[in-house]
Amino acid sequence: MLERILGKDLAYYVRTHRGLLILSLALTAAAALFAVVPVYLLQPFIDEGMKTGSSPASWKIPWVDLNFAGGFSWKRTERVLIENISSNRLLVLLSIIAFLSMLIRSIARYFSQLSATAFSNRAIRSVRTDLFSKFVSLPLGFYHKRKAGDLISRATNDLVVMQDRIANILIGLVEQPLSALAFVIYVLIMDYQLTLLIVIVVPALVGLIHLFGRKVKKNATKIQDSLSRVTSAYHETILCLKEVQGFCMNQTELEKFKKLAEQLYKNVMRWNRWNLGLSPIMDVTGFLVLPGVIVIGKVYFHHTLGELLSIIYAYAKVYEPMKNLARLNTELRTLQGATETVFSIMKTIPEIRDRAGAVELPRHRKSIEFNKVSFAYQSQVPVLSNISLRIEAGEMIAFVGSTGAGKSTLLDLVPRFYDVTAGSIIIDGIDIREVTLDSLRRQIAMVSQEILLFHDTITNNIRYGDPKRTMEEVIEAARAAHAHEFITVQPHGYESMVGDRGTLLSGGQRQRIAIARAILSNPSILILDEAASALDAESERYLDEAIKKLRGGRTILVAAHRLSTIKAANRICVLEGGRIVESGTREELLDLGGRFRKLHDIQFGA
Ligand SMILES: Nc1ncnc2c1ncn2[C@@H]1O[C@H](COP(=O)(O)OP(=O)(O)O)[C@@H](O)[C@H]1O
Ligand SMILES: [Mg+2]
Repeated sequence: MLERILGKDLAYYVRTHRGLLILSLALTAAAALFAVVPVYLLQPFIDEGMKTGSSPASWKIPWVDLNFAGGFSWKRTERVLIENISSNRLLVLLSIIAFLSMLIRSIARYFSQLSATAFSNRAIRSVRTDLFSKFVSLPLGFYHKRKAGDLISRATNDLVVMQDRIANILIGLVEQPLSALAFVIYVLIMDYQLTLLIVIVVPALVGLIHLFGRKVKKNATKIQDSLSRVTSAYHETILCLKEVQGFCMNQTELEKFKKLAEQLYKNVMRWNRWNLGLSPIMDVTGFLVLPGVIVIGKVYFHHTLGELLSIIYAYAKVYEPMKNLARLNTELRTLQGATETVFSIMKTIPEIRDRAGAVELPRHRKSIEFNKVSFAYQSQVPVLSNISLRIEAGEMIAFVGSTGAGKSTLLDLVPRFYDVTAGSIIIDGIDIREVTLDSLRRQIAMVSQEILLFHDTITNNIRYGDPKRTMEEVIEAARAAHAHEFITVQPHGYESMVGDRGTLLSGGQRQRIAIARAILSNPSILILDEAASALDAESERYLDEAIKKLRGGRTILVAAHRLSTIKAANRICVLEGGRIVESGTREELLDLGGRFRKLHDIQFGA
């Protein structure tokens, strides 16, 4: 049932809080039933309580006598609850009962809504954390094809749509039919022939509800899509603000944004046209019937004023929940629009994950082998072809080659940011696809050209991989990375904030913090991808010294197109067009007089 309404995915989350859900629905049902009481009281209130003179009043309620003797038959009668009471006393009594029933109903409603808010928000809290956990586990490849702003919008805007509607819908789906039913029974007992008149409009209403629901869902999806484009625009512009301002593109970006905002506005209006249109149309249809009920009720069925008023009141009360149900339908359609996109992200199965039966990779101490490795980001364009290479533990190996040769790609394969397309990478005799991602990545520290720091203190950035590290260890790592000197002159020393993505520090400073972070995590494999390319000569010298200290204890893979940074390497591989074209020691390659010699001569002007 829950699945039919909310869809399988969302239902799963709501069901985990089924205790609260049931409590809320039970209270809702009680509240709905108590709402009927005042209507029942209206007829005696007018017909008996308003009697003038001294004739005693009585309180009768409509009743049905069921007769099972000789088949089944039924007959509408009355049941007397109170007799021979003065009309004024009856008025007081009825008022008190009406008040009490409304009091109970209000209390029940309050607690039903409170528990409804609780279960829907708990469900969304779980969806939210699961979505985040999905985001942090999806491989990098997933994000190349998507805008970050779009994903952020899904995680915020779409979830808000869901959060607001789940409770409303579930409660409404119990409350509205139940109160409609209670009043239908009432009018049936009062006059079943009149009731038939009411029922005639139902198919027309259902048709309308269906049509409007379809339109609303379509436009709700469009709103969420537009909203995501707007969020993306904010996100991208803020990220690239320097470019935007530098190229004086403020006005152009604004114009582009205006178009997006306009599109969003149009979609919101289109949605509202259908969403708001349903109620008035239903009202018109409903009120076609009402005068008929009054006229026919008086002329043909000779109802008293009290009975007629009570029937009309009850009729309005049947009609109201139907209208609410229609509104719920459009809400549900809006919810479904948001749910679909969120769960389509949730259902992405990460291509890179632990295989069944993955083992822990013991600390690397033998070798890293590339075994006929080929790789392509898109299936048609090979980026690496047939790379075979054996690196001994403790060796420092450098990859050189022009930009776009595939150096970064090759290094990214080691921590499995991507999986090889063909061939294999073997660490200490185990294929890295057979080990747990955790045990593999824990042994690897990576420093790349583009250093991003977290908006936090320098200390916390250095011990990011392991927050339990002591201050002494942090300082020791910072010294080894030659970062200590500039950190101590920062306004708050190690507790200085680095700014969003580290923007308060220079490129060289960020680099050294990243190296301190790498040193602190005590990796068995250190990967440096163009770590020095953004550095001035002085920082580069510091970096060289830091690397020298790290040599021997760990396997170091370095990629650089600047040859000065790789002097310390044991061995150099020259990569061109995704293939290793030369390899050997620096001297060997210089003697060879090939590609490396050419690069060397260009850079050192020989
Ligand atoms: N995420 C990606 N999707 C598709 N192609 C990519 C991606 N990243 C890099 N490439 C392509 O792969 C090739 C190698 O890039 P890369 O490994 O970064 O080279 P290098 O680090 O040697 O400069 C380039 O042609 C580049 O255009
Ligand atoms: Mg690169």
